[in-house]
Amino acid sequence: MTTRDKWRVYKRVCLMFFLAVVTLTVVQRGSISTMPQFQLERQARTEFFVEGDSHKKSGSGVTGRFWKPAKPRQEVATTEEPNRITQDQMTAKTWDITSANCTANLNFTRTEWFAGLEPNFKQFLLYRHCRYFPMTINHPEKCSGDIHLLMVVKTIITEHDRRDVIRKTWGKEQVIDGKQIKTLFLLGAPSNEAEKANHQKLLEFEDYIYGDILQWDFMDSFFNLTLKETHFLKWFATYCPGVRYIFKGDDDVFVSVPNILDYLEISSDVKNLFAGDVIFKAKPIRKKDNKYYIPQALYNKTNYPPYAGGGGFLMDGPLARKLYSVSETLELYPIDDVFLGMCLEVLQVTPIKHNAFKTFGLVKDKKSKLNKEPCFFKGMIVVHKLLPKDLMDMWRLVNSNLVCAQKAQLL
Ligand SMILES: *[C@@H]1O[C@H](CO)[C@@H](O)[C@H](O)[C@H]1NC(C)=O
Ligand SMILES: *[C@@H]1O[C@H](CO)[C@@H](O)[C@H](O)[C@H]1NC(C)=O
Ligand SMILES: *[C@@H]1O[C@H](CO)[C@@H](O)[C@H](O)[C@H]1NC(C)=O
Ligand SMILES: *[C@@H]1O[C@H](CO)[C@@H](O)[C@H](O)[C@H]1NC(C)=O
Repeated sequence: MTTRDKWRVYKRVCLMFFLAVVTLTVVQRGSISTMPQFQLERQARTEFFVEGDSHKKSGSGVTGRFWKPAKPRQEVATTEEPNRITQDQMTAKTWDITSANCTANLNFTRTEWFAGLEPNFKQFLLYRHCRYFPMTINHPEKCSGDIHLLMVVKTIITEHDRRDVIRKTWGKEQVIDGKQIKTLFLLGAPSNEAEKANHQKLLEFEDYIYGDILQWDFMDSFFNLTLKETHFLKWFATYCPGVRYIFKGDDDVFVSVPNILDYLEISSDVKNLFAGDVIFKAKPIRKKDNKYYIPQALYNKTNYPPYAGGGGFLMDGPLARKLYSVSETLELYPIDDVFLGMCLEVLQVTPIKHNAFKTFGLVKDKKSKLNKEPCFFKGMIVVHKLLPKDLMDMWRLVNSNLVCAQKAQLL
């Protein structure tokens, strides 16, 4: 080929690329569905868009002393019972819910106790029996192969920037020491018309670029977080036979992946691993102005079973499958992490409390310097609660050449 020919070919390729980009943009704007094409494009784009944020420095030497083997409180043997339930549900290979078909249950609307409830509890009770909804965005391929750690993040449609910073920091998909790590975001449907009009297309575009969104067609409200939990468990049981561990958390937390891996390493022979910021004997909150208020009519025992704060916890894959089976046998409870505690109780698995999970706030004093102390963060697994910019700043600090005194490591 002469130089001239090469130049011609080069121009042609450039033109084709340009046309392809224009077509894609037009198609995306015009909201014509071209899924297969999108999927082909996705991989190339993903690599292009994701910022390379190296992880290498974190998790070196210093963590060694911090991770004294956790004493599993959990010598309780699992009963054979749960195992029996697991088998029959693992055969489903696709999301088998295609219509929501959920009508209000008016059975108890005339009762006195119902009339006395706050509107959000009424709404919860009216739709409590609606267990599963169809998927609007799915990724059946996400769990293919052997995955060491699947990170799933509860988020809502409007929080684009939180997802973005998570993808660039702790949620970055990567392989560390041969261990595959994948990330998914869990969403419900937009909770109002404005969100639907302004954000659904954006979310779809986000998913087209990153391929990491799961969305179900139930309203993404606070009391429906339990639905998010049960939908994820069912999804996991359906698609993820090869996943060893799951980290599940909020979209406003700091997470140290190297510390998670260290912890999983030393816990590798723990059966039914479930670890987090566990509270034992928590009492249901009876003050009406509290976000977590629960009326007597909904829960009348004095204590909750032990449960891990939903801000971030770890569990192993086999346990998640058992939790799915058990979840189907219990009535939904409006607080998602308590609901999971109820499922664990049925399985007779006691969650492990570990001090590196700080999901109920850091220290009592909100003004404490610890809240901004990178050495503190460096020794933790999950810390609540950081907004995108602070998360990015903290991430950079923790992953810089940070020298930490022993003292901070042991907190
Ligand atoms: C929805 O449920 C009702 C009553 O349970 C049933 O009659 C109807 O056929 C269902 N509709 C769909 C689309 O499944
Ligand atoms: C309402 O009550 C009837 C009769 O007790 C029962 O068959 C039905 O399943 C109840 N509906 C729901 C949605 O629980
Ligand atoms: C949960 O989602 C369903 C389906 O969108 C909806 O009907 C119900 O009202 C929601 N419940 C609450 C408590 O928001
Ligand atoms: C507590 O609730 C359960 C189930 O809702 C009910 O069977 C029981 O009678 C209630 N106990 C008290 C003391 O109210």
